[in-house]
Amino acid sequence: MTDKILLTGGAGYIGAHTYVALAKAGFTPVILDNFSNADHDTPARLAQLTGKACLCHECDLLDQKALDDVFKAHDFAAVVHFAAYKAVGDSVARPQAYFNNNMGGLINLLGAMENHGVTRIVFSSSATVYGDSPVQPIPETAPLSATNPYGLSKLVGEQMLGQMQVAHPEWAISILRYFNPVGLHKSGLLRLSPENTTQPPENLMPRLLEVAHGTRKQLSVFGNDYDTPDGTGMRDYIHVEDLARGHVLALEALINTDQSHTVNLGTGRGYSVLEMIEAFAKACGRPIPYEMVPRRAGDVARCYADVTHAKEVLGFETKYGLAEMCADSWVE
Ligand code: NAD
Ligand code: UD1
Repeated sequence: MTDKILLTGGAGYIGAHTYVALAKAGFTPVILDNFSNADHDTPARLAQLTGKACLCHECDLLDQKALDDVFKAHDFAAVVHFAAYKAVGDSVARPQAYFNNNMGGLINLLGAMENHGVTRIVFSSSATVYGDSPVQPIPETAPLSATNPYGLSKLVGEQMLGQMQVAHPEWAISILRYFNPVGLHKSGLLRLSPENTTQPPENLMPRLLEVAHGTRKQLSVFGNDYDTPDGTGMRDYIHVEDLARGHVLALEALINTDQSHTVNLGTGRGYSVLEMIEAFAKACGRPIPYEMVPRRAGDVARCYADVTHAKEVLGFETKYGLAEMCADSWVE
């Protein structure tokens, strides 16, 4: 069987890390990316890291003809679908753009898979589909909901895949619900240049980096009146290299069993914003000034994964802890 795996959005943050993990595991990853949120030299850096030429197609998923040409050029064993817009605040301001890119891209991809007989897909979903879950840690069976256009695009994406499964029982579909990915490949080579980021970072880790670099005066801590031990929000941060390995395991499970699955990718442990500030200050050796500000609209108090199912189905366990996640996020 072919060992080629199509990575849509493979030049992006999680895609590039997964590319390296797949190459290391003996697969031949092929990137399809429109570089709307990626560096044009990422393929060259991936070639440097893996010691092999990087197969990459600059292509927009919304361009059906170009997408078809990519499927004609290769025989894929499976697809990993990362390509999407991902900033929650941006999605609230531009819902149509998110629906068009995230749902439209998936629709075209599913059509190309049908036309070319590709029956395995891994879908990048998010813990955002759990909304404000009263159950913590969150099992995959928890109720799902969407509170913003980005989250809706993920929830609808999962539902579309469910309907594809009904029509094609032979398809093997992996839905991976990521918690909060942080960190970078230890080489530092997969860092996105800030000038190529078209979506402004709203997440905690990029903001901690800005404060450490002095480009942001202090971190605004969004709320200290949550029902958590220190009052600040708690999240399940997962090292991107652990997350990348989860994709390798998911693909191996799809290829070896042809069974579908939905799993959480997290560590199972929550850290508060204050714990993150402390750990990051230690990692970068600089103080991180902060101020308490009111809660951010749409935020939840806690969100961490029940990791039992990921271990049972994929044998997935994380290797990296908080100190390493912070150390590997820090670039001078
Ligand atoms: P990213 O923006 O770094 O990567 C996405 C890539 O897709 C980019 O390289 C971009 O250029 C490409 N892309 C976007 N639209 C495209 C299109 N129409 N055609 C071709 N390429 C296109 O994002 P990421 O952090 O690597 O996230 C990857 C996936 O994981 C996304 O689906 C995202 O929603 C999901 N996810 C991310 C996080 C996170 O915190 N990073 C959390 C949960 C889920
Ligand atoms: C956000 C998205 C979620 C997405 C996830 C991973 C929202 C509402 N949700 O989740 O859909 O899947 O990113 O990409 O945006 N914080 C501060 N100050 C800051 C930034 C963040 O205190 O400047 C706090 C937040 O309140 C939260 C924690 O840090 O408690 C983590 O925030 P963030 O990195 O934005 O991730 P999520 O809110 O979990």
